[in-house]
Amino acid sequence: MIKALSYIGIKSTLKDDWATFATKVLGMQLLEKAGSTVIFRMDNQAQRLFVSEENDESIACIGWEVETKADLQVFGSRLESRGVEVRHGAQSLKSKRHVADLLWFIDPAGFRVELVWKPEQSGDQFMPGRPIEGFRTGPLGMGHAVLHVADINQMVAFYREILDFQLSDYGNNPIPLYFFHVNERHHSLAFVGSKNSGFHHFMVEYDNLDDVGQGYDLAQTGLADIAYTIGRHTNDYMISYYAYTPSGFFVESGWGGRIIDPQAWVPHELTLGPSFWGHERLYLPENERTTFRDKRLQIAKDGQRAPQLVNCPWLFQKRI
Ligand SMILES: [Fe+2]
Repeated sequence: MIKALSYIGIKSTLKDDWATFATKVLGMQLLEKAGSTVIFRMDNQAQRLFVSEENDESIACIGWEVETKADLQVFGSRLESRGVEVRHGAQSLKSKRHVADLLWFIDPAGFRVELVWKPEQSGDQFMPGRPIEGFRTGPLGMGHAVLHVADINQMVAFYREILDFQLSDYGNNPIPLYFFHVNERHHSLAFVGSKNSGFHHFMVEYDNLDDVGQGYDLAQTGLADIAYTIGRHTNDYMISYYAYTPSGFFVESGWGGRIIDPQAWVPHELTLGPSFWGHERLYLPENERTTFRDKRLQIAKDGQRAPQLVNCPWLFQKRI
């Protein structure tokens, strides 16, 4: 089975801008800038993000970690039986990705998907690009990826039936949105049925809310434009902002994402708007922002909110 989002690869002509953005705004560690690829770490894993110099601004690949080596064979034969061409990773690719084994294929929307086993752990301590407490990764994986897709039904069927992604929730108004989990993170993957193709955003989560807020301030010193102001999502409870990457799509920097119990989870339709508050969509023209703003204001009038945090000693213990 697939257990986590392992890494993301980007194609870009702007790797120097990416190096600045990923370290100074996001707080990732720049590992290697030599050659045509820039590699970043977020934790002990040897690589979490890489940007390869190509004449494009888009996704190079998305890497998903499988539980066992045998899972690669299981998925490989399942994909082949559905007519998907599966490539087994050559030694050079395995070393490049720092994994013990991998296979890759192209999904129905044209994205390159890599299934990997045993990503290499680095012996060197993680050194963030700016002072942050750390990223929330581990069993939850790197974060989440949200993709624009033209044929959402085809993609939903492919990921659920062949790759066993579990539906978290979905909405159909005003455009189709489907969220999937592969572990306790509310979603590791989502599709936006926007008729486009490419990254909407990827999300990284921090251990400390202040690291999100400080990234927000630092971005606005000229390091990155803000696409969504700080706000809180209604489905995964993430408190986050979105910044433009050098490639034009967004990165969501978040804190406080919801942990679910995958065994007990029942998928459901989303009826609230996307955010309890905030997340003003600066990337949209004013007339398109109002729909989202009106929904938010209605949520505020109705008093809808995320459940209260519990067992937080400094917040709830009696102050002396
Ligand atoms: Fe997100």
